[in-house]
Amino acid sequence: MKDSPFIYGSTVSVHAFTNREVETKKLSGNLLNGINTTIISPRRWGKSSLVEKVTTDIAKKHKNVKVVLIDLFSVSSEEEFLEAFAREVIKSSSSKWQEWLASGKDFFKQLTPKLSVGVDPQSDFSLGFDWKELSKNSDEVLNLPENIANKKNIKFIICLDEFQNLSTFNHAANFEKKLRANWQRHKLVTYCLYGSKRHMMTEIFNNASKPFYRFGDIMLLPKIETAKWQQFITEGFEKTSKRIDASTAACIPQVMKNHSWYVQQLAHYTWNVTAKKAGITEVNAALTELIQANTPLYQREIEIISTTQLNLLKAICKGETRFTSAAVMKEYAIGTPRNVSKNKTILINNDIVHEVDGSYEFLDPAFELWFKKQYFNQSYLIKPLI
Ligand SMILES: Nc1ncnc2c1ncn2[C@@H]1O[C@H](COP(=O)(O)OP(=O)(O)O)[C@@H](O)[C@H]1O
Ligand SMILES: [Mg+2]
Repeated sequence: MKDSPFIYGSTVSVHAFTNREVETKKLSGNLLNGINTTIISPRRWGKSSLVEKVTTDIAKKHKNVKVVLIDLFSVSSEEEFLEAFAREVIKSSSSKWQEWLASGKDFFKQLTPKLSVGVDPQSDFSLGFDWKELSKNSDEVLNLPENIANKKNIKFIICLDEFQNLSTFNHAANFEKKLRANWQRHKLVTYCLYGSKRHMMTEIFNNASKPFYRFGDIMLLPKIETAKWQQFITEGFEKTSKRIDASTAACIPQVMKNHSWYVQQLAHYTWNVTAKKAGITEVNAALTELIQANTPLYQREIEIISTTQLNLLKAICKGETRFTSAAVMKEYAIGTPRNVSKNKTILINNDIVHEVDGSYEFLDPAFELWFKKQYFNQSYLIKPLI
């Protein structure tokens, strides 16, 4: 049996990567020309995949450009960040681990990093600082890439995923100031900072009183259009000796509102239940399976929100926009205007809804389908095409 041509759950940058020609070109141009770039989109739309694709291509073509990729998802303090930053910069600066160990002496004056490699240096290289010393000399770490680049005649592209996590560190405001002050002087290092929490990212980059204001170009990553998905899905089936007609292939992104992760997931489930040719029956079977598989997750989402928040979500689901009108407040029992405004913020901060052109939308299209079925008994199945 052939492997599925559809992938979800990890980043896709080679096999299952589609479209994004415009974004690929723009990001690649920016990063090669020293333009710091911020990318913002809700989670699972394709930021990490795009950055991985672009930087892999760059690294292949430009041998003097070194790429550093750090995911801040599980980094929870300034010290941890600085250690990860130094470790990854040193690691990408050379392919020889002997040089990594030497860099401890070559590039630090105040700090004395403890460096060690294990049996497999690639996966087992560690770096630690004395945290007391580190707090006094963090500039030395922050300027490390520029200094190495200067000495070795190379350039760095430093990509920091889930960058908004930084603002949860203790003394975050101070740290942001320090980062900006150092990084903006770098000539041989370009930064790509991206994240999923839109409100936090815009607060960092779009607030004129914050240090990262105007740090670089801001890209709001859009969704991939239906026509591109349709082609991608059709080709995926063909490559693996199965078939799907064009109109059925278009239903997959349509029902998933072009959400990258879910389009791939539904395409995969459809491909899986298809023996030879997929039609609406197969897509519906796949959709049922997908919703069922995710149901425990969706139930948990509901369990953690309050009754008025749930009611507000129902009103959003029904397409209401005037939440503080007396009729809407009464019909959905969403409480006072103050409750509404507070709950809106909570639903946004919890990544359940987002604002699009003044109205609110569910962020997760499959959760929305489940929600409609659960609370309004609306079927999510696709009607057969005539
Ligand atoms: N360009 C793309 N082409 C095809 N599928 C994509 C693309 N970008 C993302 N995806 C799908 O979406 C999923 C989530 O992508 P990811 O890059 O992890 O998003 P983010 O970093 O924005 O959370 C991937 O696992 C993949 O299934
Ligand atoms: Mg990501």
